[in-house]
Amino acid sequence: MIRKCLFPAAGYGTRFLPATKAMPKEILPILNKPLIQYGVEEALEANLNHIAIITGRGKRALEDHFDISYELEHQISGTSKEVHLSDIRQIIDQCTFSYTRQIEMKGLGHAILVGETLIGNEPFSVILADDLCVGEGTGVMSQMLKIYEKYRCSILAIQEVDESEVHKYGVIAGHQLDDGIYMVSDMVEKPDPADAPSNLAIIGRYVLTPDIFDILRRTTPGKNGELQITDALKTQAQEGMVLAYKFNGKRFDCGSVDGFVSATNYFYELSKNNSD
Ligand code: G1P
Repeated sequence: MIRKCLFPAAGYGTRFLPATKAMPKEILPILNKPLIQYGVEEALEANLNHIAIITGRGKRALEDHFDISYELEHQISGTSKEVHLSDIRQIIDQCTFSYTRQIEMKGLGHAILVGETLIGNEPFSVILADDLCVGEGTGVMSQMLKIYEKYRCSILAIQEVDESEVHKYGVIAGHQLDDGIYMVSDMVEKPDPADAPSNLAIIGRYVLTPDIFDILRRTTPGKNGELQITDALKTQAQEGMVLAYKFNGKRFDCGSVDGFVSATNYFYELSKNNSD
């Protein structure tokens, strides 16, 4: 059974400067909830309550967010404002949080390898909080874990994107095994459209088997001189089996201002409809 979910959260968030100069990008709110809390709620919905976060310099607010604030709670206890803390309080009660720091920014593959100390030798999942996903029916991570139970191999989430967008993503080649499930044969990190093997782009949700750590250790830096999880998964696919899953639901690229605004509008409409 998978219990742990890793959140790489050490990045600088340069696309959101100056907002992210003194504040982690994962704390930027969509309405009144920080981006990373949406990810942790998705993990929890999938029964993953060991939350492992890769942090870096200037990211202390992440730890404080998932901790009790005695002073604040004392101030608002017994008032009508107490209700605003009930969701985060429930998350804190239900999850165990562990943290480790990525000292140097050497890519997503490197961040995941840094997480080995928190994960150990067991399968685990990864959520990139920038990719805010809203599953249809169940959450996207829940959907992926169902597939893991059947196939017991690494699984990555994919979505069809426009050809002009493939250069922003890891892109897979594969053949369809089942409805929405592809057996991966090749993967390229952020290809030029002319070199892209398909328009099936990797979205920030992974289920990984622990042999990925050894593969990462023998993977050399790839695109932009960084250790890429895409390259390690390509090796894993070619030596064994990796599946890609076209999930049911929506995804907002909250690492970009456009995606962030779309997510804000979407959740605003949702909250208005819920309160009507
Ligand atoms: C990372 C991965 C990429 C994936 C993307 C999804 O890139 O390297 O393969 O498609 O996340 O958001 P990043 O957006 O961190 O540059």
